[in-house]
Parts: sequence; C-alpha cells; structure tokens
Amino acid sequence: MVQQVMRTHGAGSVSVDDVGNEVTVAGWVQKRRDHGGIAFLDIRDASGLVQVVADPAQHPAVDDLRMEFCVRISGEVTNRPEGTENTELPTGLVEIDAREVEVLSPAKALPFMIDDRTDVDELIRLRHRYLDLRRPRMAANLKARSRATAAIRRTLDQEGFLEVETPTLINSTPEGARDMLVPSRLRSGEFYALPQSPQLFKQLLMISGVERYFQIARCYRDEDFRADRQLEFTQLDLEGAFWDREAVFETIEKVLSSVVEELRGERVETPFVRLTWHEAMNRFGIDKPDMRFGMEIVDLTDYLGDTEFGVFKSAIESAGTVRGINAGQQDWSRARADELTEQAKGLGAKGLVWMVVNDDGTLRSPIAKFLSDNEIESIKKVMDAGPGDVLLVAADRWKTAVEVLGGLRNELGRPDNHDELAFLWVTDFPLFEEAEDGSITFSHHPFTSPVDIDEMRVRPEAAISNAYDAVLNGVELGSGSIRIHDPDVQRQVFEILGIDSETAERRFGWFLEALEYGTPPHGGFAFGIDRLVMVLQNEASIREVIPFPKTQSGVDPLTGAPTWVEAGQLSELGVGLTPEAKARQTADE
Ligand code: AMO
Ligand code: AMP
Repeated sequence: MVQQVMRTHGAGSVSVDDVGNEVTVAGWVQKRRDHGGIAFLDIRDASGLVQVVADPAQHPAVDDLRMEFCVRISGEVTNRPEGTENTELPTGLVEIDAREVEVLSPAKALPFMIDDRTDVDELIRLRHRYLDLRRPRMAANLKARSRATAAIRRTLDQEGFLEVETPTLINSTPEGARDMLVPSRLRSGEFYALPQSPQLFKQLLMISGVERYFQIARCYRDEDFRADRQLEFTQLDLEGAFWDREAVFETIEKVLSSVVEELRGERVETPFVRLTWHEAMNRFGIDKPDMRFGMEIVDLTDYLGDTEFGVFKSAIESAGTVRGINAGQQDWSRARADELTEQAKGLGAKGLVWMVVNDDGTLRSPIAKFLSDNEIESIKKVMDAGPGDVLLVAADRWKTAVEVLGGLRNELGRPDNHDELAFLWVTDFPLFEEAEDGSITFSHHPFTSPVDIDEMRVRPEAAISNAYDAVLNGVELGSGSIRIHDPDVQRQVFEILGIDSETAERRFGWFLEALEYGTPPHGGFAFGIDRLVMVLQNEASIREVIPFPKTQSGVDPLTGAPTWVEAGQLSELGVGLTPEAKARQTADE
C-alpha cells in the first residue's frame, strides 16, 4: 500500500474541473512575484506549470522560497479572478490557494535562468546540464526523442522486425573513422574497439537466419566534431535478408513517416524524391542536397566556347567546365564579393566570378568587358537571370566547380529553420573514392556490393555501388547498401582497397569464413536518430537533442571526462603514457 501520497496532481494537469477541491502538487519554483503582500508562485513539474497564491503571513516558508527550490504545496483550486486569466497556459484559468507549503529541497543561486533564452554560454549550460534540461525547450527535446524511438519500435514491430543487441566491446569494424579503443585487463596490452556501427554483427545475424533485424544502437567514432557529429551517437540500425533496395526504401520511409507524424503531426509524402549521386552533384554540387530551394547549378561551358576571358578559356581547353548559379536578389557589395570569393577558395576554387544584372540588361562584373553581347545574352538566358540577380561563376574541373557552387548555394539559399521538410534518396554512389593521400578507399564501407562486378575489376574508379543515402533538408540522415554476400567478391574488394589477402585473413578472416556458410543476399540501412530529432525539433546542433553531449574538444564539462587514471590501473592494463602525456598530466595535477 502507498503510505503517503507525494502529490495528487501534475502541475500542468490542474484544471477548472478541480475548482473547489483540495490538491497537492510537487515541483520547482519557476517564478515568484509579490503583489500587495501576497506571493504568486509558478510551480513547474514535468507535466507543466500552475500558479499558486500564498500569503507569507500564513506560510512563513514562502518567505524563503527562491527560484528552483523544490517544493510541495497543498491547497484549494480556485478560479482566477476575472481579468487575470492566462489563455496561453493550459492551467491559466485556475490557481491554487496555498494551505500548506513545504520546502522539499532548497536550491543554490542559479548559474543561469531556467527559461528558453539562448544567450547562455554553452559551456556553462553543459557544466550544469541537469539545470539546462529543466528548460522547457530542452525538456521538450528529451520528450521528442523518447517519442521518436517509441514510434520507431512500434513501426518495426508491426513490420515483423526483431530487436537484437550486439556487443560494444568488439574487434574493429571499418566505417572510415578512427576507432575508440578499450584496453583489456585480462589480456593486458590487447584492445577492444567500440563499434563505429553494428555493421558486421548485423550481417552475421543475417547469416544466422534473423531475416529482419533492428537495433537502436550506440556508435562510437573518433572523428572531428561538427554541429551534427559527436564521439558517441545513436543509430537506428536495420538489416534484412532476401531484401532488395526497394524494400529497404519502403521500410525506412514508413519509419521516418511515423516519427514525423508522432513529433509534428504531419504526413510525409512518400515515396521520397530520388536522385542519383551524379545528378545530385551536377545540379546541387553536393551529395546531400537541400531540396527546399532551387538555385540549381547551370552548365555554361557550351556558351563560352569562344570566350576571350583567359580563366574560362583555359578551364575549357583543359577539359574543365564553367558553371554558375543564379543567387537571385542579394545584398551585394565589394566586401560581400570578396567574402564569397574567399569562401569559394576555401572550397577549392581558384577564384570566383560574380555578375550583377543591371536594370538595362547589361552586366556589372569585373569580367564584363571580356564578354561579348552574345555571351552575355546566353548566360542570362540559361541562368534565367533578371535585373538585380547576382550570378556566381566558377571554372574548374567538374567536381571542383560543382562542389564550390554547391557550397555557395547552401550559404546563400538555405533557410535557417526546419519548418519545411524535404526528404530525398541519393542512389548510385561511386563504389570507391580517392583518399587524401591519393590511394583508393571505399565511399560507404567495404561490405557494399558493386552494381557490376566485372566493371569493378576492370575500372574500379568508375564502379557504381548499391549504396544509398537518405537526406533531410541538406542533412545526411542515414546510409545503407545491398551487401556483398559472396566471399570471393568480398576478397576482391579488400584487394582493390589495398588490403592484401594476409591482412584480410588476419583482420576479417572470421567474417570471410562466416560468408562461406550459405549467406543469404541481404542489405540494410542506418540513420542517425540524433540528427533526425535535431531537424524535427528545429535545432541547429545535435547537442541540443543529446542529454549529456561532449564539447568540440571531446570533453564532458559536467563530469570532467576524460580524466587521468591511476598509474597502477594503467600498468594492470599493460598501457603506458608517452613522456608528452606524462608532462601534461604533471602540469594538470
Ligand atoms: P554511416 O557511417 O553512414 O553508415 O552512418 C549512418 C548514419 O549515422 C549517423 N552518424 C553520426 N551521427 C552523429 N555523430 C556522428 N559522428 C555520426 N556518424 C554517423 C549519420 C549517418 O548517416 N553501418 C553503416 C550503415 C549501413 O550500411 O547499414 C553506417 O554506419 O546520420
Ligand atoms: P585572375 O585572372 O586570377 O586575376 O582572376 C580574374 C577574376 O577571375 C577574379 O575575379 C578571380 O576571382 C576570378 N577567377 C580566377 N580563377 C577563377 C576560376 N577558376 N573560376 C572562376 N573565377 C575565377
């Protein structure tokens, strides 16, 4: 039997139906105002907010109440006096006339106000994350995340998927990032890797006969931080046997629609738009185009065959291309032009040509004098340019030119909120790409199947893969592929990647062997739950939807992780510090 009722009502659930009744609420003092000797308290709990009216003369405890004190209050629910109702608040028609006020737990002076003003330094917010999470917006983000995973589980359960957990202390799975390592004590000197994804385990589950697998999986990647990247993050990971790409798309569309419907009450139009990787690059200059706006890249090469402008001429002569975007009406100045040129150079351009269409149809541009009337007319026509439009042009090899313009397009056209949602599939990615050091590397991961095995052998650099991405508002939401299920093809891919057969056997022998036991054709997908919730909650960073995230330098300002450990602990693990690390440790302690 419950001995004591801590409270009878959630603060946010007190309503006109309770008028005349005695209720007990428990929560935090969000706000306190004093009028004519009477205290008005906003009491907040997870369910919402209710106003309490208390006379300090009757309740001495009220005098001590400060912001964020944890309290319990009993009293009668009354209608608010006419004219003082608050229609913005679900409980705004009533208040509680305090009969008993009890401080459950006092609070120190706050490092910041618990409200949705966002001018608080993020480091301070993270240092006191437990307070930050009391803010309505953060509490809403936590709730949204929980509802998102509930919707995911509901949908996949209906579709016959099995939720299976895979280990987090594993042998490295290559996903392209650096591994996070965990030293073993029992086998000192040896290391586990934390999974960059459950990729190989989910493939093993297909060999095991699990035909529909999913997992809400924590993944770990030691890579550079960005607004949409963390060291640890969460994927919805899934895989199916006897499954083709269309079936993967259909399932993912169902899952994503169910989450959008749950969080936004909106229907998503399916099937999603599809672009091949080449088309995405050609039209938008990026493999994750934001489809909420146009500003598509236009090919000007054909119209400038006889140009006198040296930059364009030499680009065309060396099999390059001249491409442009019509950035529309922009606040244009010399300084802005310089700024965008610098940005273009940062993206790999040698320079940037800008043109503004004058009212009389002529062009204002540093290179106007090099262009013939015909060339100007053609440019305006293919770029659909009218008076006041700003045109930006880059001449380079295809990939550089489109990537530069794609970067500028995002900078100039991207909406700064996610009110509208534009989902997209990008398909037919190249199987391999060139690494920074010039060697060949996989674009997705080495377990992705080629569309044409013979082509892969002969011209690996041109081979297309069975990989696909889901994109939402210019954010790469997730990736997947149809996998290689033939061990010989898998060996060939390793070979093309420069992993010799000995190394392949040593690192992946266990997996290659598993493939030898009647592996069903299979494929799957994984999307970042943090990223999805970030977009749906209209946040600019995944840190806003992760309860306890790390900073840019991989630190948790709340707990101080990572930290130095005892020398004894290290030696037990067979691990030593370099002299540099030791010097830092001494300086720290
Ligand atoms: P991939 O490496 O593309 O594919 O990852 C899938 C999705 O995971 C999310 N993601 C991240 N989110 C936050 N921080 C990070 N550091 C981070 N890295 C990735 C992204 C990304 O699209 N095993 C394959 C999937 C498969 O082939 O089935 C994989 O992990 O949203
Ligand atoms: P330059 O001949 O280098 O003085 O460049 C003349 C103009 O062309 C400058 O405005 C440059 O920014 C621009 N420019 C130079 N190289 C390129 C290029 N590859 N594509 C587009 N514009 C360029």
